[in-house]
Amino acid sequence: MNPAEHSTIRPQTWADFAGQPQVVKSIKIAIQAAKSRNEPMEHTLLYGPPGLGKTTLAHIIATEMGKGIKITSGPALTRAGDLASILTALEPGDILFIDEIHRLNKTVEEALYPAMEDFAIDLILGKGPAAKNLRLDLNPFTLIGATTQAGRISSPLRDRFGIIHRLRFYLPEELQGIIQNAAQKLKFSLDQESSLEIAKRSRGTARIALKLLRRVRDFTLVEHNSTVSPQATRQSLEFYQVDEEGLDETDRKLLRSIIEQHNGGPVGLETIAALISESVDTVSDLYEPFLLQSGFLAKTARGRIATLKAYNHLKVMKS
Ligand SMILES: Nc1ncnc2c1ncn2[C@@H]1O[C@H](COP(=O)(O)OP(=O)(O)OP(=O)(O)O)[C@@H](O)[C@H]1O
Ligand SMILES: [Mg+2]
Repeated sequence: MNPAEHSTIRPQTWADFAGQPQVVKSIKIAIQAAKSRNEPMEHTLLYGPPGLGKTTLAHIIATEMGKGIKITSGPALTRAGDLASILTALEPGDILFIDEIHRLNKTVEEALYPAMEDFAIDLILGKGPAAKNLRLDLNPFTLIGATTQAGRISSPLRDRFGIIHRLRFYLPEELQGIIQNAAQKLKFSLDQESSLEIAKRSRGTARIALKLLRRVRDFTLVEHNSTVSPQATRQSLEFYQVDEEGLDETDRKLLRSIIEQHNGGPVGLETIAALISESVDTVSDLYEPFLLQSGFLAKTARGRIATLKAYNHLKVMKS
């Protein structure tokens, strides 16, 4: 998506944010309570697979609180000094959004603890025996952390978040709403059947739904020189090799390799990563959660196995 389209589509307010009712309600309560006490909202941790709306939620929270938002990420903060300079620049009540917070290094993470708890940061000035410890007070702020790997966050860090939410995959009807909304903002007409077809093939993920919408729009325009229709939608999704279950080429390759090269499993994450030439993190963040949730893969004590549903979907007989 070009950046201009991206910012038109990204929800700015609750009205445009579909689904996740539990999360939305609880965040709304936290915002209202914080506002009535004239305090910043509590530190919030959002986790779940990529493309479900963590970054979007952080922006909406900032808008609703009427505060600024500063965005950074775990890997970008290499030294405690990087963190200190960001924290000292925050205005009272501002939001600090740290993406991929599971990738903070130990020193920066430890510098974050007093910042979260006491709105203060300890700086060490000088080196060796002459070094001095200086405690710097900060403006009260809200930390919003986002991660695709909740399991990799240390418990001292996790415990310092007052609010922790897991985002879940969207239902087709919710995605359909997101798609219709985006089509409207991009000013092209889309019938309900087409948007549902795209929604069903979007792996429960908002980002994928929006991506497929754009592919369908472009394909239809160029190949048919027409507006989107259910038939054109199915044709374009076929062309892009997204099947009725929303699986793409890589998903199918992953399942097929487990079945054909490992007799259906069990196989470990490293093996799966090697089978599709991807990193272990990409498999565990991007591919595996949906395949597990939709029942193509199952986890056992000895590794992942391809389920009967996977055999049927790929039309392979189970030996
Ligand atoms: N609930 C929603 N309603 C409408 N649009 C949404 C919703 N959630 C996400 N989107 C859209 O989907 C896209 C991806 O969302 P976002 O960037 O917030 O995901 P993320 O969880 O931060 O992903 P990552 O882990 O990759 O950073 C955005 O462009 C946003 O416009
Ligand atoms: Mg994000």
